[in-house]
Amino acid sequence: MSLSNLFRKKSTSVILKEGGDGEHSGLNKVLTVKDLTFFGIAAIIGGGTFSAIGNACFSGGPGVVFLYIICAIACGFTAMCYAEFASRVPVSGSAYTYAYVSFGELFAWIIGWALLMEYSIGNIYIAFSWSGYFTNLLESFHLHLPEWLTINYKSAQDALLANKPGEGLTAWNTAPTLGGLRIIFDLPAVVINVLITYLVYKGTKESKNFSNAMVYIKLAIILLVIIVGAMYVDIDNWTPFMPNGFGGVMAGVSAVFFAYIGFDAVSTLAEESKNPQRDLPRGMIYSLVICTIVYIILALVLTGMVKYDLLGVSDPLAEIFALKGVKWMLFIVSIAAVVAMTSVMLVFQMGQPRIWMTMSRDGLMPKKFAEIHPKHKTPGFATIVTGLVVGIPIFFTDENFVLDFTSIGTLFAFVLVCGGVLMLSPQSEAELAERATKGKFRIPYINSKYIFPLICLGAFGAVQYFLPTFFPNTFSYSDNFFAENAPMVVFIILCIVMAVLAFLKNLSLIPLLGLISCCYLLTGMAVSNWQWFGIWLVIGLFFYFIYGYKNSKLNKG
Ligand code: ALA
Repeated sequence: MSLSNLFRKKSTSVILKEGGDGEHSGLNKVLTVKDLTFFGIAAIIGGGTFSAIGNACFSGGPGVVFLYIICAIACGFTAMCYAEFASRVPVSGSAYTYAYVSFGELFAWIIGWALLMEYSIGNIYIAFSWSGYFTNLLESFHLHLPEWLTINYKSAQDALLANKPGEGLTAWNTAPTLGGLRIIFDLPAVVINVLITYLVYKGTKESKNFSNAMVYIKLAIILLVIIVGAMYVDIDNWTPFMPNGFGGVMAGVSAVFFAYIGFDAVSTLAEESKNPQRDLPRGMIYSLVICTIVYIILALVLTGMVKYDLLGVSDPLAEIFALKGVKWMLFIVSIAAVVAMTSVMLVFQMGQPRIWMTMSRDGLMPKKFAEIHPKHKTPGFATIVTGLVVGIPIFFTDENFVLDFTSIGTLFAFVLVCGGVLMLSPQSEAELAERATKGKFRIPYINSKYIFPLICLGAFGAVQYFLPTFFPNTFSYSDNFFAENAPMVVFIILCIVMAVLAFLKNLSLIPLLGLISCCYLLTGMAVSNWQWFGIWLVIGLFFYFIYGYKNSKLNKG
């Protein structure tokens, strides 16, 4: 094995020739910029908005709005990096393909492996949240599913260990047993996964129509939630703005970041887009802007309606209306949540097989993953495997674990995408002119030579002199400062290194800010998340070395 082989790169022209331009891939090229924007919104507004936002508000108070803004900035810069890549390499593999072009094979594999967390593990969280709201909906029709069919095994077991009365304990005590094992699983989560897998297997066009219809319903109802909710806002609830300091705000980072994930899923549809180089970037950026506006308003309304400490529930949007006695909204919110989360699952479940398909074409995954169903024109086998990868863990895991896991994996992928844009070779004048005349997206080049070091100095100065006064819990300058703040210390070192590189190499500012802002969000992840993520990466590398490295097409010349 040669070390340089690990970093062998694919050239953009080879990728496009291999059928990645969609002309030869066998997929239906039916998606327009509107469809792509809708796909983006369909993927973004879901479990993060209807479920995870509750705990983020609970820990951060109204100040969670800052986190929404920080995440929007990080995702905005990253979206521009995705857009740059999507414009240069319009194929289905998303960040995986981009890493292959810029960093080489090993990093491409790592990204492909991390994206598995975003799309598949993320869908597990959404399936659980979907089930919560769906069960609420059934209750409003007086249909009651037994507790042991509406909760996952681990949550029920945790409730038993903590002796916490509620759904979990009831499920444990009432569950039938088989050979001494209690039968407890989240039936609605399993069923929705099967239905979505079937729909995605059947075809893009059908999925697209379904997805567009759901986005209309979702946006209309969220607008209603904002309008009705605004009437109940009491500005006293916004004081104190950060009851647990900035540390409390940052504790919600997984949840808030999760709410933004999805804009990048648009890039997996490159081969089904009519004009990917022009439309993919637009679809991503438009959907991100729309969702950011929705989130900021929603977070303000939510924390304005009730005290933040009442929001630590899994169905906060229903809870606020329940607390205010607005019964008719409960039903509407539950419908909106079910619709919203269905559409997110749909988009993610479409994204995952397409990444596998691309990896398989490169020889990094078995050939079967690239097979296109002759009638439905979808990657059929990969779609079914995705259904299993989402469906099986539903029986064994719980929502908090998958939420953290998804966010850390996705942030990691985003960091590499932004880093990848920094590594791209500059294009010639002729290539740039060609991109301009065809309306293809191009990330604006702003020289970071002086600006980035100045931004770093300004930010550190502000943190040092101003933030501790306003946000006393941001840092603790104790004797154990370095041990307690290890991620922050690594982040500061990274900023210094990047500032030097920016000065020496005239790096492009936008991808640099994307990289730094995503790394900043990573500092908010708990140590246990990093440990699990490390284990996950090691398993991925193991697979790469026993299969991908040997079977890579680049290996075969
Ligand atoms: N952003 C997506 C959601 O919140 C993943 O469900």
